Amino acid sequence: MSIIERAAKRMEERKEPLVTSLGSVLQDGFPATYPRGDIGMADVEPEKPIAKRPAASRVEIDLFRLGHRGFITPDNSSTPVAEEFRIIKRPLIRNAMGHSAGTVKNGNLIMVTSALPGEGKSTTSLNLAMSIAMEVDNTVLLVDADVARPSLPETLGIQARPGLLDVLSGQIGLAEAVLPTNVNKFSILHAGTSHSKATEMLASDSMRQILDEMANRYSDRLIVFDSPPLLLSNESRVLASHMGQIVVVVEAESTMHGTLIEALATIESCPVKLLLLNKAKAHGGGAYGTYGSYGGSPYGYGQGR
Ligand SMILES: Nc1ncnc2c1ncn2[C@@H]1O[C@H](COP(=O)(O)OP(=O)(O)OP(=O)(O)O)[C@@H](O)[C@H]1O
Ligand SMILES: [Mg+2]
Repeated sequence: MSIIERAAKRMEERKEPLVTSLGSVLQDGFPATYPRGDIGMADVEPEKPIAKRPAASRVEIDLFRLGHRGFITPDNSSTPVAEEFRIIKRPLIRNAMGHSAGTVKNGNLIMVTSALPGEGKSTTSLNLAMSIAMEVDNTVLLVDADVARPSLPETLGIQARPGLLDVLSGQIGLAEAVLPTNVNKFSILHAGTSHSKATEMLASDSMRQILDEMANRYSDRLIVFDSPPLLLSNESRVLASHMGQIVVVVEAESTMHGTLIEALATIESCPVKLLLLNKAKAHGGGAYGTYGSYGGSPYGYGQGR
């Protein structure tokens, strides 16, 4: 039994609220997992430059296709997955937007990562972002920060556009790169044109400035970063150092205890780390998984912070 499953069992025995997660409700037709190997940016061939968009163009997401594939959409907001994300997003929003003394610094910068490839980061990021967009008070920006292996164009069925790396290299301004979509209050920022110095760019002062701008410019906006796995890329660790909150996706019956501990050790400095069990089989009470927070101790689980 994995570390999270043990924690889930403990929480269940104590009758603590369990958050159902992504379970098996999602349907076939998702992008297949791909072998990642070492994704050091030096190995990435520069891609064809991505066409610049006309100013203020809106991205049209095929919501029917997305909903059909099991993702949350405005018309798909009462599915089991949508219900699960209603609970999953709550502590994240509270940490980001709460007006109490406990509000987390840069809490509106939320990174979604995992130890290893294929655990469900992109799926979780998109569902989380869609779910937040349906809040009355919040807007959301979904950033494809897996710059070596961006998945947003394929998942949303849209064309790749200039994005984060182009902003960092000064090719385009942030305001121009952030694209509104046909989903109200939901914008996206593509990964952008791949670059051999991506890690350095993400670690640069420009990145810090851009994140500050993102974090402070719109106080009601949450920014969700779909990120590479922690144990296979430097980019993820660099990104993590800027974040207010990190959601670590853990694949049920797959992620090993030691692997998870190793991954969590790389994000020690982030004030809030939340663990999300993904792809779990149903257990007692019909729940599919659990969600908890991780504090100073690797075994410190509980709801919220
Ligand atoms: N809860 C779930 N139920 C069923 N399938 C899922 C679930 N979450 C993710 N998947 C599937 O698992 C595969 C990997 O998911 P996803 O692309 O979200 O992972 P990832 O962590 O972003 O992967 P990578 O590290 O390659 O970027 C996809 O085929 C996706 O459809
Ligand atoms: Mg991914």
